[in-house]
Amino acid sequence: MYGDMTKRDRTRRGIELSELGNGTTPADITAKVLQSFDGCGDERLQTVMKALASHLHEFVTEVDLTEDEWRKAIEILTATGHITDEKRQEWILWSDTLGVSMLVDALAHRLPPGATESTVLGPFFVPASPLRPNGAHLDEMPAGRSALIHGRVLSLDGTPLAGAELDVWQNGDNELYAVQDPDAPEFHLRGRFQTDADGVYEFIAVRPTPYPIPFDGPVGKMLDSTGRHPWRPAHIHMIVRAPGHQTVTTHLFDSESRYLDSDAVFAVKPSLFRDFVVRSADDPERPEGVEGEWYSLESDFVLAPGGTEEPIDPGRTA
Ligand code: BEZ
Ligand code: FE
Repeated sequence: MYGDMTKRDRTRRGIELSELGNGTTPADITAKVLQSFDGCGDERLQTVMKALASHLHEFVTEVDLTEDEWRKAIEILTATGHITDEKRQEWILWSDTLGVSMLVDALAHRLPPGATESTVLGPFFVPASPLRPNGAHLDEMPAGRSALIHGRVLSLDGTPLAGAELDVWQNGDNELYAVQDPDAPEFHLRGRFQTDADGVYEFIAVRPTPYPIPFDGPVGKMLDSTGRHPWRPAHIHMIVRAPGHQTVTTHLFDSESRYLDSDAVFAVKPSLFRDFVVRSADDPERPEGVEGEWYSLESDFVLAPGGTEEPIDPGRTA
């Protein structure tokens, strides 16, 4: 009956053990494992576990995994567990660098055309940033050339949203987020801002630099041994939320940055590219507290109507 099916087809379809004979071939092993979940009372869990086992077996069969490779994989997983703690989240780095984080994001946020697109949260988000007045600085110590970031938060139909919140975090010119930098004050380069009655926000950030994701662990070894680099293009993170609207976790990417075409975590979306416009020191619009040449960047955020949700902090990689 299954004579014309390849080994992979049989694995994928989870052929019943009883139909496979004595139960010792690779396909029989796969079928036995799939069958072991038949009694699972949770339908979703059963679907997920069967698909996981099926794809995992298919992968092992497809690459003809050797015992040495299997042992190496166990070592890598063990090292990933050992390097992970409440500040360093190597598992999420695997998810990011294998594109799984962006895939989950794409499946979870099928936003209508015109809404600001989402991208990865990343491991450097820290909840409970201070609420800062509109126009305030994000930097609490020197971190690069100042950039006035401003615009409006709008609903999909163009209505300005008063009282919307932007939760912002970024790295400085030492390539580090404050949570990675023992010399930085706790709230350096992060803060929350609220839009005014016209939906307008503004704050003073610094022009971000590209930076490498942490590469001193198992993920770094994978990148190195596969000829990949660890760099992310320059960006500023924000979570934008407003009552009655879907929260969006997103970035603004510097449109002139390196690595826009080879982000280590596959999180670039061209709709999020923005220009940092050079402004001279004697520009009459130079904000207070800004010295020398500076930049301005204008960006509106458009939120799709819907329920509000709290972002989940999945852990940090410091
Ligand atoms: C980030 O942009 O902060 C980031 C995202 C994924 C992995 C590492 C860093
Ligand atoms: Fe980042």
